[in-house]
Amino acid sequence: MSLNEKNTREQWGSKIGFVLAAAGSAVGLGNIWKFPFMAGQNGGGAFVLLYFAILFVVGFTLMMAELVVGRHTQLSPVGAYKKLRKKWAWVGGLGVLAGFLILSFYSVVGGWVIRYIVKAVTGSFNITDPEVLGGLFVNFITNPTQPLIYHAIFMILTLGIVIGGVSGGIEKYSKILMPSLFVMMILIMFRSLTLPNAIEGVKFMLVPDFSKINGSVFLSALGQVFFSLSLGMGAMITYGSYLGKDENIIDSSVQIPLLDTAIALIAGLAVLPAVFSFGFDPAGGPGLLFITLPAVFAQMPLGSIFGLLFFVLVLFAALTSSISLLEVCVSYTVDEWKWNRKTASIGLGLIIFIMGIPSSLGLGTWSHIKLIKGLDIFDSVDFVASNVLLPLGGMLLCIFIGWVWGLDNAYKEVTNDGKLKFPLMRVWGFLIKYVAPVAIFIVFIQGTGIYQWVVNLFK
Ligand code: PHE
Repeated sequence: MSLNEKNTREQWGSKIGFVLAAAGSAVGLGNIWKFPFMAGQNGGGAFVLLYFAILFVVGFTLMMAELVVGRHTQLSPVGAYKKLRKKWAWVGGLGVLAGFLILSFYSVVGGWVIRYIVKAVTGSFNITDPEVLGGLFVNFITNPTQPLIYHAIFMILTLGIVIGGVSGGIEKYSKILMPSLFVMMILIMFRSLTLPNAIEGVKFMLVPDFSKINGSVFLSALGQVFFSLSLGMGAMITYGSYLGKDENIIDSSVQIPLLDTAIALIAGLAVLPAVFSFGFDPAGGPGLLFITLPAVFAQMPLGSIFGLLFFVLVLFAALTSSISLLEVCVSYTVDEWKWNRKTASIGLGLIIFIMGIPSSLGLGTWSHIKLIKGLDIFDSVDFVASNVLLPLGGMLLCIFIGWVWGLDNAYKEVTNDGKLKFPLMRVWGFLIKYVAPVAIFIVFIQGTGIYQWVVNLFK
């Protein structure tokens, strides 16, 4: 990364550097850990179908929108809104809040990944019995202290990288490690697809059962698109703010979501066929990846080495996402409160670590505590962040661009002041101004039950 002399703001060293960083933010536990179990819990094919529908209407549209606002203002979310319309700064603040909440439980799961790396090193990937694997996982996450230690390690790694500045080393490693992850996932997918009975899992994931579609499945798919693409909280605004004025936003807004979705699908096809082959429960929830894949590794030649490499690469992917979450919070305090970067990273990292403790305990010692709709603490925080705050932030950004800041300003930024051709420009404008915000609103009030609640008020 080199310094831009005009405004002394850091910029990406290369075009590929930006794409890697943005794709690094998008590709993470959301694709590898969350997508397969969300699909499993929400009816498989029906969920995947809705995911695609939302990706096309909302995903691409918002990716471009965030990059546009970021590059235009060259500021992090709160500063960006403030610069364009002072009254809208709170929407950026909402994003910072979402970042806090997501990172708090993200880091807990990042800790599980580290735990599984340790497991792989000590050679315990030779069990295929679902009961035993499930038992091992549950024993670990319900232990009151162990997961917290790994949660702390993950957070220290994250804040260590953020202190060093976003690009530097990470950009270099990404070039090797992200493609390696891709290749590794494809290998695992093939092993999984060739297990006995794997076809049941493929059918489950790809053949939609329309009777499974309801408001809450719809909302889960919506939240998953936001979560997986890092949208709705300003992470992409922040990354866009480091983007040079002559880069092509149009290409990036297509490439990043496509790559992200490809990895999610591959992860789904690595996990779900194995789930059916070994007789696990597809609706098994957050433990699915950690219970299923060790069984797959046990069926592979050199399985423990594969397992080790896989979890190391997942850890890397998780870190390139978690740094973007922390970066949004840090750049807010640095830009707005003039904190120094190091103090901000350590201070916020500590606060977020503490916020993650209840989520972790909620899976064990505090599992009797239910916050929202009968969900434990972990799932409740995830629900509020992914299914409420992110969609809300996305909807407000659409309204902001379409109705407040104005499409013409956005068009100018997208096309680099008319230098680039963008044949679908007006379609994008229409999606931003009308379709996306309305779609998000409808899915949101249906899925949260707000609509039903209002209807009942008038009965
Ligand atoms: N997209 C990341 C993942 O899939 C998580 C994330 C969400 C990162 C929101 C930044 C902002 O793992």
